Amino acid sequence: MYTRKLLVSLIGLILINLSHYPDYVLSENVNLDFPFFTLRNITLLGDSYLRNGIVGLTRELGVPSSSSGSVMYNYPVAFFDQETNVTASFSTKFSFSIANVNPSSFGDGLAFFLSPNNQTLGSPGGYLGLVNSSQLSKNKFIAIEFDTRQDLHFNDPDEDHVGLDIDSLVSIKTANSILRGVNLKGGNLITAWIDYENGKKKLEIFLSYSSFKPEVPLLSVGIDLSDYLKEFMYVGFSASTEGSTELHCIENWSFRTMGFRPIRPKIQPHNVSDSSVPLRTPIPVSDSGNRHHKMIGLGLGIGFPAFFCAVLVVFGWISVKKWKGIKSERIITSELVTGPRQFSYKELKSATRGFHSSRILGHGAFGTVYKAFFTDSGTISAVKRSKHTHEGKTEFLAELSIIASLRHKNLVQLQGWCVEKGELLLVYEFMPNSSLDKVLYHESENGNPLKWTYRYNIAVGLASVLSYLHQECEQQVIHRDIKTTGCRLGVDSGYWA
Ligand SMILES: *[C@@H]1O[C@H](CO)[C@@H](O)[C@H](O)[C@H]1NC(C)=O
Ligand SMILES: *[C@@H]1O[C@H](CO)[C@@H](O)[C@H](O)[C@H]1NC(C)=O
Ligand SMILES: *[C@@H]1O[C@H](CO)[C@@H](O)[C@H](O)[C@H]1NC(C)=O
Ligand SMILES: *[C@@H]1O[C@H](CO)[C@@H](O)[C@H](O)[C@H]1NC(C)=O
Ligand SMILES: *[C@@H]1O[C@H](CO)[C@@H](O)[C@H](O)[C@H]1NC(C)=O
Ligand SMILES: *[C@@H]1O[C@H](CO)[C@@H](O)[C@H](O)[C@H]1NC(C)=O
Repeated sequence: MYTRKLLVSLIGLILINLSHYPDYVLSENVNLDFPFFTLRNITLLGDSYLRNGIVGLTRELGVPSSSSGSVMYNYPVAFFDQETNVTASFSTKFSFSIANVNPSSFGDGLAFFLSPNNQTLGSPGGYLGLVNSSQLSKNKFIAIEFDTRQDLHFNDPDEDHVGLDIDSLVSIKTANSILRGVNLKGGNLITAWIDYENGKKKLEIFLSYSSFKPEVPLLSVGIDLSDYLKEFMYVGFSASTEGSTELHCIENWSFRTMGFRPIRPKIQPHNVSDSSVPLRTPIPVSDSGNRHHKMIGLGLGIGFPAFFCAVLVVFGWISVKKWKGIKSERIITSELVTGPRQFSYKELKSATRGFHSSRILGHGAFGTVYKAFFTDSGTISAVKRSKHTHEGKTEFLAELSIIASLRHKNLVQLQGWCVEKGELLLVYEFMPNSSLDKVLYHESENGNPLKWTYRYNIAVGLASVLSYLHQECEQQVIHRDIKTTGCRLGVDSGYWA
């Protein structure tokens, strides 16, 4: 009798995962992410439309037109909790473009707004689709305008400014974006960040052509929005034209609120023997410390109030000591059916825009990781691509079945694989918050290093997953290379000792 030792190199992602609150529940923090738009969860009003995953807010006509439109997230978002007297902070990021078919025919601009009303739509022209021209005080809102026309009527300083508006288009404070090198109506993709910290009573707006947030805000307003943030509000965008050809497009959008106390997670007791039960239960954040730190932490189980961080495993060596190489490919494949599935090369190619460089999340020793959008299901995954040749599909599937059977809340879940055209592709759960090293080594926005309590939680979370891999899981996985840098995933098969 001979013993075969199957060694599998498993390169993982060490990534931080944010708790997700997809639905609105009373006074829970929300976290919305629209990497592209579908009709799901948004309401289009007025002249707005959806095309190729992008929302256009005003009529798309090559002739001068007057038009207004808005788009909103379908569900109300909690901003104030009566019981605890807590007002939420919020943070949003979106990429937009304002282009002019006829550059001399511009105006009027777009706005990001919070409004108590899900029917918020205003008039064309200087009203930015926010204010009804026949009832100026009808619509209530907190809005950030990206205004491309000077309306003296509303005391606009110039034709390229960003301003904070509350219930009126006469801005509380404005800033000229050209002075910071960003031409609002130049047609380029612009990314905007809007952060409000209720504790500091401060609103900050950042603009950039790149996806890196500038250090210095374009506009900073010291203001207490708690007087205006209602229990529930709708969030969205509006825009308008007035006899112009301006096009207003929103390409993607993420939005979240912070500051509410977590509602106890409903953790279901899981049966250890039932490996098909997904064990990733989000554990909400505790309400302490500043906003940045709130994103970080490890869920360590019931009663440990911390954000959790999904940690997966880098360059692990799976060593299956007495591998009984009897399992046929058929059995292994059927085992995989309940968990990860086989993807077609075509499917992965189109989800990553033909492995386009703009979709690269990172490079590892083993290959490149891409962000994949599956438009049919509206989901995002991380796809790891390698060009290694593999000795045999059977061995590869055997290894996959081990990886697929791993279940730990801090492990990134394998969703599927593809072996075609001499390539090996692995599909993993997408972790939106990049890699752990960014959190550990980089200072937060306000210059403080990550607190020791969070570091401790991360270490304990990592220890928990290692103990699972080394001792608790059915087929022991010996992990030999823990790294904090992310975006490395994969399986290197075909080692026989
Ligand atoms: C739409 O909202 C529901 C809950 O409100 C959420 O479960 C789902 O993920 C959302 N879909 C998208 C594409 O955002
Ligand atoms: C709620 O909090 C505000 C300050 O954030 C305070 O002024 C107010 O008195 C509080 N109200 C109650 C009922 O505690
Ligand atoms: C607005 O909200 C109400 C409930 O508050 C709902 O019945 C209605 O369908 C919503 N309208 C739109 C356009 O979403
Ligand atoms: C403005 O309000 C009037 C009266 O409520 C309404 O008939 C009209 O449609 C509104 N205009 C817009 C652009 O919403
Ligand atoms: C939107 O897309 C742009 C370009 O691909 C990217 O730079 C930006 O980070 C994205 N923003 C969000 C909120 O996903
Ligand atoms: C766990 O197993 C027991 C007995 O095998 C079963 O009755 C129970 O429903 C299972 N629980 C879950 C959450 O699957």
